[in-house]
Amino acid sequence: MCGIVGYIGERNCVPILINGLKRLEYRGYDSAGIGIIDNNKSIVVKNKGKVSLLEDKLEELNLYSNIGIGHTRWATHGIPNELNAHPHANEDNTIFLIHNGIIENYQVLKKGLINFGYKFKSETDSEVLVHLIDNFIKKGYDLTTSVQLALSEVEGTYGLAIVYSKEPDKIIAARKGSPLVVGIGDNENFIASDVSAILAHTKQVIYLEDGEIAVIKKDSFNATTVHNDEIEKEIHEITMTLDEIDRGGYAHFMLKEIMEQPETLRNSLRGRIIDDEGSSVLGGLTDVVNKLVNSKRIIITACGTSWHAGLVGEYMFEQFCRIPTEVEYASEFRYRNPIIEKDDAIFFISQSGETADTLAALKEAKMKGALVLGICNAVGSSIARETNAGVYTHAGPEIGVASTKAFTSQLTVLALITLLIARRKSLSRIDGKQIADELRLLPEKIEKILTLNDQIEVIAEEFKNSTNFLYLGRGYNFPVALEGALKLKEISYIHAEGYPAAEMKHGPIALIDENMPVVFIAPKDSTYEKIISNIQEVKARGGRTIAIASEDDNDIDQLVDYSIKIPNTIRMLTPILTVIPLQLLAYHIAVKKGLNVDQPRNLAKSVTVE
Ligand code: AGP
Ligand code: GLU
Repeated sequence: MCGIVGYIGERNCVPILINGLKRLEYRGYDSAGIGIIDNNKSIVVKNKGKVSLLEDKLEELNLYSNIGIGHTRWATHGIPNELNAHPHANEDNTIFLIHNGIIENYQVLKKGLINFGYKFKSETDSEVLVHLIDNFIKKGYDLTTSVQLALSEVEGTYGLAIVYSKEPDKIIAARKGSPLVVGIGDNENFIASDVSAILAHTKQVIYLEDGEIAVIKKDSFNATTVHNDEIEKEIHEITMTLDEIDRGGYAHFMLKEIMEQPETLRNSLRGRIIDDEGSSVLGGLTDVVNKLVNSKRIIITACGTSWHAGLVGEYMFEQFCRIPTEVEYASEFRYRNPIIEKDDAIFFISQSGETADTLAALKEAKMKGALVLGICNAVGSSIARETNAGVYTHAGPEIGVASTKAFTSQLTVLALITLLIARRKSLSRIDGKQIADELRLLPEKIEKILTLNDQIEVIAEEFKNSTNFLYLGRGYNFPVALEGALKLKEISYIHAEGYPAAEMKHGPIALIDENMPVVFIAPKDSTYEKIISNIQEVKARGGRTIAIASEDDNDIDQLVDYSIKIPNTIRMLTPILTVIPLQLLAYHIAVKKGLNVDQPRNLAKSVTVE
């Protein structure tokens, strides 16, 4: 999920690696390191924190090498610190490796390697790879074959670069689920997770595909499968500018992050569903699952978008776990001297894991003896470290200030937690399996919704000059109404309110006229007929209407001005789908208003002040 850069050639690789890592800093990371071979000796230099810190260290060492690899880490397993930073080396320091992604079966592999006498220095999943390769080299295989054999035992995702001091003429790269590109130079070659890291040196690149392994020498390149079948690869000419590349070719990080939600949901789900039990497995909650299942009350506290996720969680927990659940603004919770009982379980949801109000609420709850649990995106963040246990969302770094992929990943994790608890209470295996099956279908359903991007842009053109918006939803989709309104107001500066649709009659209906667009979140569910009545009430007063509706709903088109049709899913998961068109609607309106979508005025990505 983070940054890789490698070099082999005739120049000193150290400045090339450092400058390449600096090009990758925008993706967000928590630690950095490089590994080189100098006079047949492997040297690894790494640290928690910024690439600039690594650069200072390297200046003092004044190293020179024609081969090396560098990494910026976005931690998934093991807190950000120097030991967990990459590269990871084998015991005799002859092999070192950098890894992007998640090794799903690392515990099993680690256990086997430890039984075999291997000693681990880090808490990461990645370190198993270097010892696995070492094991095959010790059996007499060369580096390339050892990598092929090792990877045939690995489950999960990886973008890898590996160097072996006894074969200093090559870098081995391997890709499965995490991008890698080879840069072709003049008597020098490169490897990177992102073209922007090497574009300063070459525009000739070869994209590795999943399941491919590349042997990169300074004057040659060849690719095979994990089973050593030769692969022909094509050289491409890069035409994008550096700026465009940083955003994955998208105009803004926010659009990139909206578009990568199928992949981020797959990452949030990866290795966490037990199909035949119709349940979930969440390593971070293993030690507290009984306390959680037997808690008398669940409280969810958060801010902003994360608070909206908590509201959806309330519906999930109460419907399936039958545990009374309350959702609190962290800022209100912390100052109210809340009544907290010993058998309360309190979740703190935070993308950044650094939000001051949420952290303060957590400390207050912990002091009063509650079980405090985190749902964070940033591994090793303050909130993650302060809680007794928790679950990481694995959405990857979210750069756009307006939260999008983190939100859908939070909802995914809340659904997994619901499954974990409910299957230990009254939820049947069959019903659990239905939820699990529907969770697995979400990424492709999101892909289908994202194809509506152009249609949504046309609707945005129609409403870009509106000065007010009303978002209405019921049940699970009431929080989505709030989230849709927040998305719009925080990036387009248009005033927008989210309301429970039924509540419209108790005041907001007075606002309705032809200048007040109303967005209805109206999937076909148990409240559908009621929403239709609300739509008619708005129409009767001249309001203009947009509906997020089910793809098999042909009636609603006669009623509303615009309808955006999305795939169906089970009720508890509809928010993960209904929010996507609202993210795109807000995005396109803001772009059409010429505003700074990624850094809206007055806002920070992480509100670390109270
Ligand atoms: C959401 O788009 C906003 N950026 C903001 O409301 C955000 O959700 C809130 O500040 C909470 O941040 P956190 O999830 O990092 O704690
Ligand atoms: N899973 C690895 C770790 O936690 C790699 C994380 C990344 O992709 O940066 O170290």
